[in-house]
Amino acid sequence: MNIAIAGVGYVGLTSAACLAQLGNEVVGFDINRETIASLRSGVIRFSEPGLPELVADNVRAGRLTFTADPKEAMHAADMAFVCVGTPSDAAGRVDLTQVESTVATLAASAKRSFTTVLKSTVPVGSTERVAEIMAGCLAAGVRSSIVANPEFLREGSAIQDFFESHRIVIGSWDPAAAETVAGLYTALRCPILLTDPESAQMIKYASNAFLATKISFINEISRIADAVGANVQVVAEGMGLDGRIGPQFLEAGLGYGGSCFPKDVLALSKMAEDRGHPSALLSAVMDINRSRRRIAIEQLRTILGGTLQDREVCVLGLAFKAHTDDVREAPALSIISALCNAGAAVRAYDPIAMSSASRVAPPHARLRYCDDAYAASRGSNVIFIATDWPQFRALDWQRVRRGMNGHALVDGRGLLSAEEMGAVGFDYVGLTG
Ligand code: UGA
Repeated sequence: MNIAIAGVGYVGLTSAACLAQLGNEVVGFDINRETIASLRSGVIRFSEPGLPELVADNVRAGRLTFTADPKEAMHAADMAFVCVGTPSDAAGRVDLTQVESTVATLAASAKRSFTTVLKSTVPVGSTERVAEIMAGCLAAGVRSSIVANPEFLREGSAIQDFFESHRIVIGSWDPAAAETVAGLYTALRCPILLTDPESAQMIKYASNAFLATKISFINEISRIADAVGANVQVVAEGMGLDGRIGPQFLEAGLGYGGSCFPKDVLALSKMAEDRGHPSALLSAVMDINRSRRRIAIEQLRTILGGTLQDREVCVLGLAFKAHTDDVREAPALSIISALCNAGAAVRAYDPIAMSSASRVAPPHARLRYCDDAYAASRGSNVIFIATDWPQFRALDWQRVRRGMNGHALVDGRGLLSAEEMGAVGFDYVGLTG
């Protein structure tokens, strides 16, 4: 198949490289000329394990090219994937501007009929609007059916998630178009669910909302477990042994961040509200998630003697989770900002997310980014773990402890062993309250 992928950000570039690897001829298109120039010179401007190698292999094999010219992208395309961003607007609803302009551009550039594949997470029911725009821009004699094909890739393990997909969801009113898209994925040997576009889009929102609910659920249990003297990690382990519950997404801590869960749970909640069915459950999931950051700040304040003023806090981890440099909606950044506003001095370190963090929160008098965890912890009164980087487990904690001006360690991710840290001389606490 000849495939054009519009939007070569995280989802688009991963899909492009993986579809090329499956033997398709893929052209990655983006209106951002700098992004295209950078990809042509072999540079990917975000971190995703294995992606640089997969892109390079497929470029070398001649199956993957990049262009900023939509006519070139659509020249031979049998399919056009829409992979552009769908950010939240000020009210928390999805801003479809990029999807609409991309669809118009692709339609106006096509000289032959093609299938439009909506990968971007769009509100349920957007397919009609996309079809309308498409119809208004296609040249006479050119047709395009629309297929919703949501993605389920996690940042940090996107390539593995693609090749070991749990399921492919395809929603369309055109059975032939749906079959054509399904054909792309048959080599993955996973279940392929064919349905209508609305159900396909709802599967995406419901899946993310369910996983976010699982996280808020275990965080709520964590609060209750603390109050009754139970250990939430053991509770999660015991719950997870039940196959109906499963062990994943039961890690209590600072809650969810990133570019997906916060935006998608909010968007689903707005969709429900707009149709007169406000969701108390989704509101609680979001409230609990926000409360985790407040709890962390209060815990640091308490440990530091009731004030953050002039206290030295070392924050380990900036990314919203391990194995990515993405800091969107990262708990670390909002906590750092609150700590600085309360008068604390923060020294922070992350293995790969320092430059993305410093674009959002530039260094200043109260915030310094350090070259490693030892430099960040030197002289600090407390260490706060904000991201579950496995590297932090392997630190020489004796050395960290010796360099500090204090011995408190707040583990916002349940990453370390209370026993081992106690043996090193730390006052170790998880998030409580
Ligand atoms: C999520 C979904 O897992 C993907 O299936 C989906 O395709 C993607 O959103 C998307 O919509 O594009 P992602 O945001 O990359 O993927 O990250 P996750 O690994 O799901 O983690 C989300 C957040 O939950 C992170 O902040 C993580 O630290 C937190 N989390 C996760 C917990 O607090 N506890 C857990 O037990 C698991």
